[in-house]
Amino acid sequence: MSSLKGKKILLAVSGSIAAYKAAPLTRLLIKEGAEVKIVMTPTATTFITPLTLATLSKNEVIHEIVDDHAWNNHVELGLWADVMLVAPATATTLSKMASGLADNMVIACYLSAKCPVYFAPAMDLDMWKHPSTSHNIKRLLSYGNKLIPVGHGELASGLIGDGRMAEPEDIIDILFLELDKKKDLKGKIVIITAGPTYEKIDPVRFIGNHSSGKMGIALAEECYRRGAAVHLILGPSRLLPDSHEIDVHQVTSAQEMYEETLSLHHKADIAIMAAAVADYRPAHPSDSKIKKKEGDMSILLERTHDIAATIGMSKKDHQIHVGFALETDNVMKNAQMKLQNKNFDLIVLNSLKDPGAGFKHDTNKVTIISKDGTKKEFPLKLKNEVARDIVNAIVNIKVAPTV
Ligand code: CTP
Repeated sequence: MSSLKGKKILLAVSGSIAAYKAAPLTRLLIKEGAEVKIVMTPTATTFITPLTLATLSKNEVIHEIVDDHAWNNHVELGLWADVMLVAPATATTLSKMASGLADNMVIACYLSAKCPVYFAPAMDLDMWKHPSTSHNIKRLLSYGNKLIPVGHGELASGLIGDGRMAEPEDIIDILFLELDKKKDLKGKIVIITAGPTYEKIDPVRFIGNHSSGKMGIALAEECYRRGAAVHLILGPSRLLPDSHEIDVHQVTSAQEMYEETLSLHHKADIAIMAAAVADYRPAHPSDSKIKKKEGDMSILLERTHDIAATIGMSKKDHQIHVGFALETDNVMKNAQMKLQNKNFDLIVLNSLKDPGAGFKHDTNKVTIISKDGTKKEFPLKLKNEVARDIVNAIVNIKVAPTV
C-alpha cells in the first residue's frame, strides 16, 4: 500500500449533506501522512462545523473570503497545494467552478490552484441527471479537472440512484493511484474483449445481443489509468473509451473478434474476456436480402470459436486470463465450470436475476471467483467501481515473471 506522506492536500467542502464525509475523509488523509488544509463554502458550515474540520486537520479552516476585515489569501493556498480536492462538490459549486464565479473561498482557491483538481460530486438523482450538471462536468473535464465518480445508493431525498458522493476510502484509493503515481499495471499489456457481436443473416439482418460494452470499456479505462498499454477489441457498441491512448480494435462478428484476439494474445500479460460473444452464427449468410415466403423459415446455425477457451489453451505461466459468466440458473456451479474449462485465473460472475446487474445498466453486482476457490461478493456498484474491484483482484494474482 502506498502512502500520501508529505502530500499537501487542499480539501474544499461545499454545502451538501455529504459534507459530513469530509470528517472521515480528513482523518484518512492525515492517517496516510498528508498535510491537509480546508476551505469551505458558507453553506457547508451549516452541515459541518469549521471547528470539527480544523480539529481533525490540525489547521485553521477558512470559509469566508474576508474575515475580521482581513482578506484570506486564496492565491497562497492555491499555490501551496499538491492537489485540490473538492468534496463534496454540489451542483452549485460545479456550476461556479465551470463558469469561474468566484464569490466564495472555494472557487477563489480553485481559480488560483496550479495543481491537479479532483472533484467528487454529491447531489440528488434528478440534479445529477440534469443536462446542466452534465454540461458543467464536461466543461470541468475539458479544463483538465478530474472527476471522482459518484456512487449509487440511497440519497438524501430517499430516492435510490446515482449521485452519492464517493466514499472516503474510494477517494483515497483514487488519490493513491493518481497522486503517488502508483501505476500498478505499468509496463503491462492488457487485451480486453468487449461488447456484443453481430452475426450476419443477410445484408440487413443479424443475430446480436444486448451487451452495451460498458463493462469492458470501464475495464479498459481502469487498466489504462493504472499504467497498462490497453488493446480493446470491441464489438459493435455505440460507446467508445474516453482515453484516446486506448487502442481500440473495432470488430463486428465473433470470427473477427476471434482473429483479432488471437493476433494480440501472444504479447498480452493480461487478457480480460468481457465480450458477449455469439456462440452460433448463421451457417450460410446470404449476400442478398432474404425475401419473405409463405410459411415458416429456419436458419441453420453453426458454432463460432470460443475465444476464451482457445487462448486458454496457449496461456503462458506469466499470463493472467479473466473471464465473465453471465448466468441465470445454477450461477455458482456454471461460473466455476467456465473458470476451469477456459483456464481462467479469475471469473467475474454476474447474475441476471440481480436487479441493476448485467447488460445495459450503468451498475453491476458481481462475485469474483478465483482459481483457488475463493469467492468475493460485492454490492451493486457503478461499472467503473466494479472495474476497479476487478483490477484490484487481478493485481493481487501472483504469476511467474515474464520470460
Ligand atoms: N467467451 C468467448 N468466446 C465465446 C463465448 C464466450 O470468449 N465464443 C467468453 C466470454 O467473453 C466470457 C466467458 O467466455 O468471458 C463466458 O461466456 P458466456 O457467454 O457466459 O459462456 P459460454 O461459454 O458462451 O456458455 P453458455 O452460453 O452456455 O453459458
